[in-house]
Amino acid sequence: MVNLDIESIKKNIRRVVGDKKVLCYVSGGVDSTVLAKLLYETLSPEQIIAVHINHGFMRAGESHDVQKALDSAGMNLRVVHAVDRFLNATTTVDGRETPPLKKVTDPQIKRQIIGDTFMRIQQLIEQELDIDLSNTILAQGTIAPDIIETKAGVKTHHNDSPAVHELRKRGEVLEPFSEFYKPDVRKLGELLGLPKEIVHRQPFPGPGLAIRLICAEEPFLENFDETNSALKMRFENNDVFANLLPIKTVGVKDNKRSYSYAAVLSGQPNWRILFKLAQEIPKSINNINRVVYIFGEKINHVDREITPTLLSKENLSQLRAADKVVNDILTKYDLTRTISQVPVISFPVPFGQIGNRSICIRPFITKDFMTGRPVVPGEDMPEAALDEMVNKIVAEVPGISRVVLDLTPKPPGTTEWE
Ligand code: XMP
Repeated sequence: MVNLDIESIKKNIRRVVGDKKVLCYVSGGVDSTVLAKLLYETLSPEQIIAVHINHGFMRAGESHDVQKALDSAGMNLRVVHAVDRFLNATTTVDGRETPPLKKVTDPQIKRQIIGDTFMRIQQLIEQELDIDLSNTILAQGTIAPDIIETKAGVKTHHNDSPAVHELRKRGEVLEPFSEFYKPDVRKLGELLGLPKEIVHRQPFPGPGLAIRLICAEEPFLENFDETNSALKMRFENNDVFANLLPIKTVGVKDNKRSYSYAAVLSGQPNWRILFKLAQEIPKSINNINRVVYIFGEKINHVDREITPTLLSKENLSQLRAADKVVNDILTKYDLTRTISQVPVISFPVPFGQIGNRSICIRPFITKDFMTGRPVVPGEDMPEAALDEMVNKIVAEVPGISRVVLDLTPKPPGTTEWE
């Protein structure tokens, strides 16, 4: 924990801001919401321009909830709807223009387009609101792991993009949480009197559902047969079937991002055995970094086909519906505080039902998100809650074939799949 001396934090903000204006983007997550509140407590209200951009990758009802929560805390939040603008946005990577976001499958390019589009929309907002640039500072809720992991190449955080580096160089970014970890931000939020539902909200990535909808136009098949055979030979038995999925997900190896296969286990949910396998498989097979358990019928073969998937409103709605099922049940069972984060991921494996996708639930426990472990059903969460999620997703979300549970610690598997 860092020293949360609010007065000195405020003093520092006043020193950096002076009599300039501050533009603060509120995503609805803990960091930016606490930051907005801190700014309102520190500066005079007319200095602060707080804006929420709905990029279309939010959860069900989330944009509305953010607005309501900040309104009731007495803040004036402007909301900008920019769903189509994001889906059609491009950016320049290595001197070349990318395709529009709705045609991009590479996660890092998705992040870059989203990050750069945020900056561009910010510029438009500045023009529309007639903001004097030379007199305005950008405030961001960037926390220490965002910077550390971006530097290490583990991820590229949108708060830490090249455009932001430029602003930092010119001293035009205010980042009062840059040495904080999540618990510090929550503690500060409490000290500032924000409601517990907001302060203890699970983290949700800035690019939101865009990085939880795994996009691919073709199956990933690099060394597929060799890897699948090794997996089956070493780890399959009468009780547990093991198969390779024809997709790649991100993981960490030697502190670097690494894209590798996910393996799927099926059979009876004997969690002790399954979690042991989930530890052993990535250690023993180099290009597998993630292991999931599939609910329902045992499978002894996975087709190499995938359902070609890009960021579209329909695909996002499908994921949003599954995410809502999971989150409603987490709330019902009061699990949102004991479990650190529960990414719900759409992946384009149809398991024999043409055109379908599948859903992964990734309940994760961690102190700082640098490392962490998967939730163990029956210990960290009731099996009944999990069963309810699985059954409800398959029954109520159209086009979903199967649901899997992520069993992978970090490392080797990151929290998110992209
Ligand atoms: P990983 O997947 O790297 O995630 O283990 C660690 C934490 O970071 C969040 N995350 C992001 N947050 N923009 C964000 O604002 C991003 O691009 C991003 N990628 C990962 C993730 O949700 C988890 O809390």
